[in-house]
Amino acid sequence: MKLAELKKKRIGVLYGGWSPEREISLKSGGAVIKALRDGGFNVIAIDVDKKIAEKLPKYKIDLAFIILHGPFGEDGTVQALLQSAGIPYTGCGVLSSALAMNKIFSKEIFNFYKIGTPEWAVLSKTALPGLNCAMHCVETLGYPLVVKPATQGSAIGVTIAKNKTEFLKGLRLAFKYDEQILVEEYIPGKELTVGIIGNKVLPVIEIIPVKGKFYDFRAKYAKGGSVHVVPAKLDKKIAEDVKDTAKKAFDALGCKAVSRIDIRLSPEGRPYVLEVNTLPGMTETSLLPDAAKACGMSFLDMVLEIIKSSFTK
Ligand SMILES: Nc1ncnc2c1ncn2[C@@H]1O[C@H](COP(=O)(O)OP(=O)(O)O)[C@@H](O)[C@H]1O
Ligand SMILES: [Mg+2]
Repeated sequence: MKLAELKKKRIGVLYGGWSPEREISLKSGGAVIKALRDGGFNVIAIDVDKKIAEKLPKYKIDLAFIILHGPFGEDGTVQALLQSAGIPYTGCGVLSSALAMNKIFSKEIFNFYKIGTPEWAVLSKTALPGLNCAMHCVETLGYPLVVKPATQGSAIGVTIAKNKTEFLKGLRLAFKYDEQILVEEYIPGKELTVGIIGNKVLPVIEIIPVKGKFYDFRAKYAKGGSVHVVPAKLDKKIAEDVKDTAKKAFDALGCKAVSRIDIRLSPEGRPYVLEVNTLPGMTETSLLPDAAKACGMSFLDMVLEIIKSSFTK
């Protein structure tokens, strides 16, 4: 889509929502709305609530820029709603959004394509036959273990357990958020993330949390909570391997236009994909805008590139 053509369109920015990541979405959405308005585009800000299906036709938008995080937004449901209404939308489609939101399905696919991902086991709330099953994970994977809900984001409900007490506490916490949870082997080493916009793989970012034990919610969103090193100081070959792994994960899930892939790099230099974020944060402390900046793209350039690549076949 040409810029002049886009200027004539009513762009609905869908943000907010009601997932635990609402606050971040409001910030990301606010930044997108401001950048588009400052750039002279016609923007309708749509704070998404549970009446969205009913309200959507009234906004009379030509296309939707989705900047919702977490369930209903990142998981394919709002994409399906827009698709049914015949409204073009930015980013990944229904299936890839749903697959990426579910870490269990994502990992099955990574495994199929031989994309490195930490060893894991799945525990279900309903099918859990007591503690035996959970303790079997411990025997197979060994401490430290990472416990996480299958379908959340922003490190919500994620625990790194070093012993049985922490493990049981982690299980209780993760089951608050989901019926199914993952128990993963802990990968020591570096925390990396790789943004992809269109076909362009952005420079690798290393995240160094300042406070706390891992890249938790506070480290992610508090100003100064973490340091982003862009591009990450890595051996050239390793950096290429990390980027290649990120692109493979993106392609394996059938992603399109934008995503950010979270990766742990083991001390031996092996990348392990944790997850694909199909609607990465775009707040002022977010990673994707930082990686885009390192490529000389302004925030508006990044937003326009996402729009452009969403509508090119
Ligand atoms: N297997 C693992 N080994 C080491 N650290 C992990 C592992 N899984 C998760 N973490 C830590 O927890 C954070 C959140 O996990 P992630 O799988 O990215 O879920 P989300 O960001 O969707 O909550 C990661 O960024 C990382 O710091
Ligand atoms: Mg993550």
